[in-house]
Amino acid sequence: MDEVQKLVDDALKEINSATDSSTLNNIRIKYLGKKGLITSLMKKLKDLPQEERPKFGAHVNNAKNIITQKINEKLEEISEKEKKKKYEELAVDISIPGARRDIGHLHILTQIQKELEDIFISMGFEVVEGPEVEDTWHNFDALNTPDWHPARDIQDSFYFTDKILLRTHTSPVQIRTMLQRKPPLAIISPGRVYRRDYDSTHLPMFTQMEGLFVDKNVTIKHLKYTLEEMAKRIFGENSKVRLRPSFFPFTEPSYEVDVLFGDTWLEILGAGMVDPNVFKNAGYDPEEWSGFAFGLGLERIAMVKYGIKDIRDFIRNDIKFLENY
Ligand code: DAH
Repeated sequence: MDEVQKLVDDALKEINSATDSSTLNNIRIKYLGKKGLITSLMKKLKDLPQEERPKFGAHVNNAKNIITQKINEKLEEISEKEKKKKYEELAVDISIPGARRDIGHLHILTQIQKELEDIFISMGFEVVEGPEVEDTWHNFDALNTPDWHPARDIQDSFYFTDKILLRTHTSPVQIRTMLQRKPPLAIISPGRVYRRDYDSTHLPMFTQMEGLFVDKNVTIKHLKYTLEEMAKRIFGENSKVRLRPSFFPFTEPSYEVDVLFGDTWLEILGAGMVDPNVFKNAGYDPEEWSGFAFGLGLERIAMVKYGIKDIRDFIRNDIKFLENY
């Protein structure tokens, strides 16, 4: 009897400390299998005196039932745990951030260009383009820019030949458009221009937007209104525009245009009333037609608007800079 009780105690101890189903299976074989410990106790039955057999038999049977039940209980517990563990391994943790891909965005200058195009288009202007490789006639002569003008110097411009160069401004698009179309017209022309400059406020390649409006009886008021409207929409409702007398060969009178930003006036573009000689060169009658023109630097606008100090930032492709805009 003590032997049976000891067997049960040992079995329960082993069952309790089992942590996986295969260990439990081995325990089952050890005690309950064909050659197991309980089974061999049963075989001892026949060696006992007749009157002791029923009691011993019942005792061993009871031990067998206890061990069987404990094994089954433990098995259930373990398989529940194993299932849970497996589910946890398979589970997707939705709290982990996904692999995000940045899709990038338009370069700050492209954004400014589109913003300006939208503003002028809403005022009735049309976007036209011209070639970056120009001839000296469109780039200078037709724009009333004489031989002696410093912009024509080989030191200031990029020449391919005597007569072919990278355009130094978008103004030749004025000539190309007028030669192709009859007035009235209202155009803007964005694009790259080239000069032999390189410092913190000048690049050898930069971006301008030309504007040209031709109609009857156009005055400086039309020019100022148009530029003020643009300034308000780019720099804010409170911005003001100031025209300062200046000189350009292709306009008369000519102005530098400043915009009031905070409490300082900042120069943002050149403008003026189209010079009669320019109309003549483009085949328009200056007695009949009048107009205004302007040319603005997109880098300049962006620098004023966002307080960018070094123009070279636009072409450095530093992602830290570009991400700010
Ligand atoms: N083309 C000039 C430049 O690049 C800018 C300019 C000034 C354009 C006056 C104009 C204008 O159309 O009227 O410096």
